[in-house]
Amino acid sequence: MKRMILGSGWKMFLSDSEALAHAEAIAAYGTEAQGLELFVLPSFTALHRVTERLAGSGIRVGAQNMAWAEKGAFTGEVSVLSLKEMGVTHVEIGHTERRELFGETVATIALKLRTALQHGLTPVYCFGENAAEKRNGQTERVLAEEFREALHGIGFEEAQTIIFAYEPVWAIGVAQSAEPEEVNPIIGSLRSVLAELYPSSKEGSEFRIVYGGSVNLDNFPKLLEQPHIDGLFVGRASLVPENYAEMVRQMTRKAAEQR
Ligand code: 13P
Repeated sequence: MKRMILGSGWKMFLSDSEALAHAEAIAAYGTEAQGLELFVLPSFTALHRVTERLAGSGIRVGAQNMAWAEKGAFTGEVSVLSLKEMGVTHVEIGHTERRELFGETVATIALKLRTALQHGLTPVYCFGENAAEKRNGQTERVLAEEFREALHGIGFEEAQTIIFAYEPVWAIGVAQSAEPEEVNPIIGSLRSVLAELYPSSKEGSEFRIVYGGSVNLDNFPKLLEQPHIDGLFVGRASLVPENYAEMVRQMTRKAAEQR
């Protein structure tokens, strides 16, 4: 039985003291969450203190990026070894802001996926079509091509530990999420692509696929109802502790219904 997933990406919205205060404010909600996988993604500099504060809370901590190499001449990068020493369990790979603003490519994303898996970190692998690809009806083709390249050589067992985060580029950081009814069949088609890549799969049902992009308390319930969605990945709206608490509550209820 898959656990429902609630991810919270803090991006670069919080200073270290603000991040610690936020961790303090949400720490108690982890223990209330039955049957969920909760993770938060602070900035690198806040990781140490937030990881310490949330240890044992039921809320896991991840990094927003990492180097593909373990060690060496990689100025400005952060190693998987440092993340593990801090008790980090998740790592976000390939967020659209990394791709668009910092030139990340599918080739480097593929390397980082491997490094994370080799070291037992849970990759939160982000991907999604941009506005032009959507307009031209290329969404499914573009995403399938990306999967083939990014997942090449990654085995079925390992791929099941990845959190696949479908985040349409045009739906991130705006007022409205993608329509829940539109997201569901796209995630369904991603399951078919995964089932093709992994013939032992039962129609891609083993894979954990979440939706992200302008999730808030208004659209949360409807998104949660979609059968192909295993969880939600929230940016801005999750930075208000009361909102976060309500999201945890709603998802816990949903997870209980599914059991
Ligand atoms: P928003 O929820 O602020 O649109 O951010 C989503 C996101 O990028 C999560 O990775």
